[in-house]
Amino acid sequence: MPAISKLLAATALLTTANASILKTIELEKFIKAENKIAIQGVLDNIGPNGVKVPGAGRGLVIASPSKYNPDYFFTWTRDAALTFKTLIDDFLFGNTALKPYIEDYIYSQAVLQTVSNPSGTLLPNGGGLGEPKYMADGSRYNGNWGRPQRDGPPLRATAMIQYANYLVQNGEKDRVKTEIWPIIANDLAYVGHYWNASGFDLWEEVYGSSFFTTQVQYRSLVEGETLASALGLPVPAWTSQTPQILCFLQSYWNGKFYTATINTNADRIHVDANTVLGPIAVFDPSAPCDSPSLQPCNPKSLANFKVFVDTFRNSTLYPINAGIPAGKGIALGRYPEDIYFNGNPWYLITLGSAEFLYDVAATYLKQGSITITSTSLPFFKEIYPLARQGTFGRLHPAFYVLIASIRSYADSFVSVSQKYTPANGMMAEQFLKVEPFAPISAANLTWSFASFVGMNHRRQNHLPESWLPKKSVSVPAVCQPGSVRGTYAPATAAGAPNITTPCVSNILFKVNASTYYGENIYVVGNSPTFGNGNLDNAYPLLSSNYTNERPLWYAVVPLETPSDGSSALRYKFVRQQDCGQDWILEDGEERVIEVPKCVSDGSEDVLGEVDEAFRGQGGRSGGCEN
Ligand SMILES: *[C@@H]1O[C@H](CO)[C@@H](O)[C@H](O)[C@H]1NC(C)=O
Ligand SMILES: *[C@@H]1O[C@H](CO)[C@@H](O)[C@H](O)[C@H]1NC(C)=O
Ligand SMILES: *[C@@H]1O[C@H](CO)[C@@H](O)[C@H](O)[C@H]1NC(C)=O
Ligand SMILES: *[C@@H]1O[C@H](CO)[C@@H](O)[C@H](O)[C@H]1NC(C)=O
Ligand SMILES: *[C@@H]1O[C@H](CO)[C@@H](O)[C@H](O)[C@H]1NC(C)=O
Ligand SMILES: *[C@@H]1O[C@H](CO)[C@@H](O)[C@H](O)[C@H]1NC(C)=O
Repeated sequence: MPAISKLLAATALLTTANASILKTIELEKFIKAENKIAIQGVLDNIGPNGVKVPGAGRGLVIASPSKYNPDYFFTWTRDAALTFKTLIDDFLFGNTALKPYIEDYIYSQAVLQTVSNPSGTLLPNGGGLGEPKYMADGSRYNGNWGRPQRDGPPLRATAMIQYANYLVQNGEKDRVKTEIWPIIANDLAYVGHYWNASGFDLWEEVYGSSFFTTQVQYRSLVEGETLASALGLPVPAWTSQTPQILCFLQSYWNGKFYTATINTNADRIHVDANTVLGPIAVFDPSAPCDSPSLQPCNPKSLANFKVFVDTFRNSTLYPINAGIPAGKGIALGRYPEDIYFNGNPWYLITLGSAEFLYDVAATYLKQGSITITSTSLPFFKEIYPLARQGTFGRLHPAFYVLIASIRSYADSFVSVSQKYTPANGMMAEQFLKVEPFAPISAANLTWSFASFVGMNHRRQNHLPESWLPKKSVSVPAVCQPGSVRGTYAPATAAGAPNITTPCVSNILFKVNASTYYGENIYVVGNSPTFGNGNLDNAYPLLSSNYTNERPLWYAVVPLETPSDGSSALRYKFVRQQDCGQDWILEDGEERVIEVPKCVSDGSEDVLGEVDEAFRGQGGRSGGCEN
């Protein structure tokens, strides 16, 4: 090469290097500023003093201040737990001002566990713990919803265990034992009891089994057992389920990616962000990359990550990603078939994917070696075309190059979220996949802000405590279904009311009722469960088995004694529409059933069945589709 072109080439290199340094400085500046905004954004959405959520109960995390299109002015157990998992991290890394918020959260969850709701009650069977969301003041939410959701209890346990471990290390073991453990124990009993039962996924749409849910369930039982032992408690009965949950977790892998949802007839390819959010929720920087807990650095998780991201590189699906080359971050959404708000990228998924990559890099750095297998090779080739199979230790020239490539890939996802975050730093739930790429859906979403803070910790190499036992875990040779009946009790020392087991008769209500999208069917009647005749407290039926051939709405309802003391329950089916229309009461005669004597032994037996057809007024479409 003639000297002059050498010089030119060197200058070009330097210019690229300068440009990339400038870009990095710009990104650092953004991250620093946005992190402050994000923490404040989270705190503004927590009761009782959050400025954006007047009326929210003490310690309750409101999903978003948005009350209309969409209405997110509720507290979700999952969102709240993931938010507090991050706030507790922030506290452990030095933000001591968060302590009162964490204490309020503990109080709020102790109380919330005892609120009876359409998923059930705490006593005697723990069913109520699977309720996904509550009103902002902590009272029950009666609307039809995708329930139960079985990721809330394990995520809440995980958040609290991080804090409990800190308290134990700081001489507050007795307090943990009397106040916090009882809350955790209820949630873990629920996991052991229901891990093998269907439920709705984290997006509240698919009924079946979700990778994310199974993975966070596994973590909660493992670290729960460790905490129980540190507190000197007897080995809990649910520990027998832990290996089986781990076994079940392996079954989501289909040879190419994690099938996000199984045991469902949802018409999807099952490529879904839940398989990226799961590994970051169970991240343990000390776990070996081949651990069956399926860490971010697991070769399967890396292969899955590539399949997930590549799905959104499709510019027909996501015009926003047009022209972005392989190896560079893009805007990411939940799953390709998404139609909610027309299906757009989400901040928390784009940022969560960056976090995933920082976790991977942090693990390699901590463990001092990188192993590339045939499964993970395509992932590595995308960001470093010279990658090949093998194990590369700290002394190998490729080691630091690979780590730098992974981190710079991660940064490029953060840059994408930066590009679509408005100048005031406020993060909605989504941003449009098409021009003008503006924020859309719920404004100031707590989970979006929390995901930023969580990402930033991992980017700074702030690593969580290890939760997996030092001795390696093994997967049973054959997976077995299972369940251990849980024992539940109100966490009174933390502020829960001292509730007792209600006396109920479980009755299956079924009704054929053709409905338009957005319409719901309820039962109202002369019992507390049926709202004592008050429509606002009517009991929601489920539509999860609804088909055009069999328009079934149903629920197994735990009935208390009718309020007039008789055994005759009088009830009506009612139709309601979600977009502001009036309730439509069924005309025609009131129906009556004889309620069998209630039982308070916690039996789940169904003592009676009602099978009817809705004879009232037909519904209207009401424009709920949009
Ligand atoms: C979101 O936050 C911004 C800035 O504080 C505010 O202007 C806006 O009204 C908020 N939106 C909602 C729905 O609370
Ligand atoms: C229950 O566990 C068995 C064994 O792992 C599994 O095959 C089955 O799909 C699980 N069902 C649900 C609903 O979790
Ligand atoms: C890209 O997305 C479009 C629209 O969703 C879809 O029809 C097409 O099959 C996708 N292409 C690939 C290669 O997946
Ligand atoms: C709660 O109620 C039960 C039964 O009524 C009683 O035995 C128990 O002592 C009470 N616990 C508290 C903390 O008040
Ligand atoms: C609803 O569907 C599930 C799964 O197919 C089935 O097990 C259950 O019995 C059905 N429930 C009713 C009330 O039909
Ligand atoms: C409900 O619909 C199914 C399927 O069409 C039918 O078999 C059943 O008899 C109906 N039940 C009542 C009470 O009308």
